[in-house]
Parts: sequence; structure tokens; C-alpha cells
Amino acid sequence: MALERLQKVIAEAGIASRRKAERMIVAGRVRVDGKVVTKLGTKVDTFSNITVDGEPIERESLHTYLFYKPRGVVSTASDDKGRKTVVDYFEEIPYRLYPVGRLDYDTSGILLMTNDGKLANKLMHPKHEVPKVYVAKISGILTPEEIKSLTHGVKFDGHKSAPAKVKILHTDKRKNNQIVQLTIHEGHYHQVKRMFKAVGHKVLKLARERYAFLDLKSLTSGQYRELSHNEVDRLKHLD
Ligand code: URA
Repeated sequence: MALERLQKVIAEAGIASRRKAERMIVAGRVRVDGKVVTKLGTKVDTFSNITVDGEPIERESLHTYLFYKPRGVVSTASDDKGRKTVVDYFEEIPYRLYPVGRLDYDTSGILLMTNDGKLANKLMHPKHEVPKVYVAKISGILTPEEIKSLTHGVKFDGHKSAPAKVKILHTDKRKNNQIVQLTIHEGHYHQVKRMFKAVGHKVLKLARERYAFLDLKSLTSGQYRELSHNEVDRLKHLD
């Protein structure tokens, strides 16, 4: 979740310039979640309830976008190696967006970008079990036993994956590789790659094609669209 300096949040709400906001804080006119805060640089998040002279400030309106992440882009706001980030695609959007979860640098596909911290936290919480559909090109060909293992859950790094759905989309016996659709609910680091590794196969290419009820129809790589109120509502009510 994005933490921001209190004076910046007040300034962005259009109450005062940042300098003036600092003076308001020092003067004890600002409360965060009911408590007077006079320390400059205090960090607040999107849920913090901020008042100036007892009046709640209007926080940024909330927006969520569906992004078709290309390969070769990092899913963080900044990258110490100077690589292109998902945020770079949203330069025209005046909100501070961040990704809901991560896709690897070399993974393409569906990624939600939002400034709605509450929605992001909800979607990333394992208890909500948002179904995600991946399509992986893997080395070798899965045996029926391996498919069974993936379906029931495999062990990797001391963790057992939850049951997954496996569907073979294409088998290339000559090149000895396979295209496999994997539906999972979890989102551990490198989850799909580690699940295939656990049954002895390397992921050569990976794409996420669905996230809950959302797919990438109508978008090409690098494009995004804002979700409708109805879509955001459906995401909020997933259980
Ligand atoms: N699993 C992975 O291994 N990589 C991703 O990018 C997403 C899921």
C-alpha cells in the first residue's frame, strides 16, 4: 500500500500548497484518524481519515484499470536497474496507481492497476481466492501423474500449493514442449513457474489470460482500459 507524506496528501486534496499544509500541521490544525499530528513527514495511507480544522479532506477519487502487461516490463513503481515499469504506461493518468500483485518481468497478460488501496488489499488477500488463469509453454510433456500432482497441489519450498485446474491446450511431440492452461487461486512469488518446476518442467513462456471474470479481449499488449463501476463492484463483492 502506498504511504504518503501528510503534507503532500493535504496539498493534493487542493486545500493548500505544500508549504502552507506544513504550517497547518505544525499549528495542530490537522488530525489523522482523530489524533492531532504535528510532526512533519508523518506517513498516511489511503485509509487514513484526515481532517483540517475538523473538516474531512477529499481524497483522490478511486480508479482501477485493466492493463495488458507486455513482457520485459517490471511490476513495480520504480526499478533500480532502470527498466521500464508498468507505471510508465500510465503517464497520462493523474492518479498514483500501483499494481494489484505482481507479474514477473518476463510474464505478459492481465494486471490490475489501481489507487484504491482497500480494493487492492482485498483482492490480494489469500482468503478471497481470486481465480487466475495462466497459459504456460513448458519444456517436456506432462505425464498423467504430473497432471494429477498439479491438480491436487504440489510441494515447493516447504509450501503445498492449493489444488489447481490443468488443461492441456497443445502438445508438440517433435519439439518436446506443451502449452498448458493452469487455473490457480494463490499468488505466491513465481507460483506458476515453481509449480511446474516441482513436477520437473521449466516454464518457457508465461501469460496470464484471466483474472476473476476479467479477460484481455479488446486490448493489445501495452494497452489499458478503465474498469466500469459495475466491474469494480463485482470485484468488491467477490468472495
Ligand atoms: N507465476 C509466475 O511464476 N510468474 C508470474 O508472473 C505469475 C505467476
